[in-house]
Amino acid sequence: MAWRGFPNVVLIILMSLSSITKTTCSSSSILYPNFYDQSCPCALPAIKLVVEDAVQKEPRMAASLLRLHFHDCFVNGCDGSLLLDTTDTIDSEKNSAANRNSTRGFNVVDDIKREVDTCCGGAVVSCADILAVAARDSVGAVGGPTWEVQLGRRDATTASKTAADANIPPSFLDLPALIDNFKNHGLDEKDLVLLSAAHNLGFAQCLFFKNRIYNETDIDPAFAEHLKSACPINGGDSNLSPLDPSPASFDRSYLTNLVQHRGLLHSDQALFSGGYTDELVKIYSIDDMAFRSDFAQSMIKMGNIQPLTGDEGEIRRDCRKVNH
Ligand code: HEM
Ligand SMILES: *[C@@H]1O[C@H](CO)[C@@H](O)[C@H](O)[C@H]1NC(C)=O
Ligand SMILES: *[C@@H]1O[C@H](CO)[C@@H](O)[C@H](O)[C@H]1NC(C)=O
Repeated sequence: MAWRGFPNVVLIILMSLSSITKTTCSSSSILYPNFYDQSCPCALPAIKLVVEDAVQKEPRMAASLLRLHFHDCFVNGCDGSLLLDTTDTIDSEKNSAANRNSTRGFNVVDDIKREVDTCCGGAVVSCADILAVAARDSVGAVGGPTWEVQLGRRDATTASKTAADANIPPSFLDLPALIDNFKNHGLDEKDLVLLSAAHNLGFAQCLFFKNRIYNETDIDPAFAEHLKSACPINGGDSNLSPLDPSPASFDRSYLTNLVQHRGLLHSDQALFSGGYTDELVKIYSIDDMAFRSDFAQSMIKMGNIQPLTGDEGEIRRDCRKVNH
């Protein structure tokens, strides 16, 4: 790996440089930040208001909305397909293994859509763009970095549970499989570490970390013991534990925890388990500025995955249904 053998200071400088390059290049993307400036200047403030309100009512909602953008983008691109409900012709992604009984926040997305369409005087802003902006505003609402969201995505008219099952990584994956999954989405090891650090927010159900706390060895024993009361060996599958010690504020504690072998999910600890992402985890666990700015860059990169643009797809009137 390219970063091996470099002193950390050099690495951090190199990383900052690559961030600058990426920012410059993003203007060549088909998406651009001022897409709605003429057609609906009130759109972005309207989204922000609803997100901030929802997060104030329930801090976890920041995590839940951020995750929706990820689960949308990893399945045939950031096209709002995740939001479609089951019909005769829609095989809803909400029924996939990663989403069923797990993804949440769909009602807040409905609230946002209603507010945005009211202020725009019609369906101007796509549901895919709403997810991208809501993810940014969610991170901002809990003390995270902010960034300019690339806009102009259009909404899919189809969804695929099969594609969701094939593309959203399950938590039992090891590092090579995680790297491979991210590569398939145009994302590298650095993006994997940074975007996984979204797990500095929110919660996971016992079902997803039971095997880790009862069977795995690469875990701080006191941490495993502590989790067992909320996650018994039999039952309790939907009991929640925070993904890091501060699930409602954006910080580096997910990363410092990994260094202490206190990752909650197998896929979390896999990032710091003797493999070649260890060094990245260490660097970002120490350098808050680099973590915040590079997290933002990776979010932009994820948001650029395979969007529908131009006359592809549609601007949905209801995020849960295709237009007819
Ligand atoms: C690297 C592979 C990843 C795996 C295997 C994974 C897996 C999981 C699992 C199993 C949960 C708990 C779900 C539940 O208990 O219902 C979860 C929660 C979460 N994930 Fe991931 N995830 C990954 C990457 C990401 C990325 C890239 C993001 C966003 C950029 C993200 C954001 C979140 C958030 C914010 C939560 C908490 C949601 C809430 O509390 O509602 N995850 N993830
Ligand atoms: C979803 O969770 C509920 C409550 O924990 C549980 O009763 C139900 O069986 C779960 N459904 C699926 C499909 O896993
Ligand atoms: C621990 O591993 C064994 C063997 O793979 C498995 O049968 C068992 O279900 C695991 N226990 C938990 C709590 O996941």
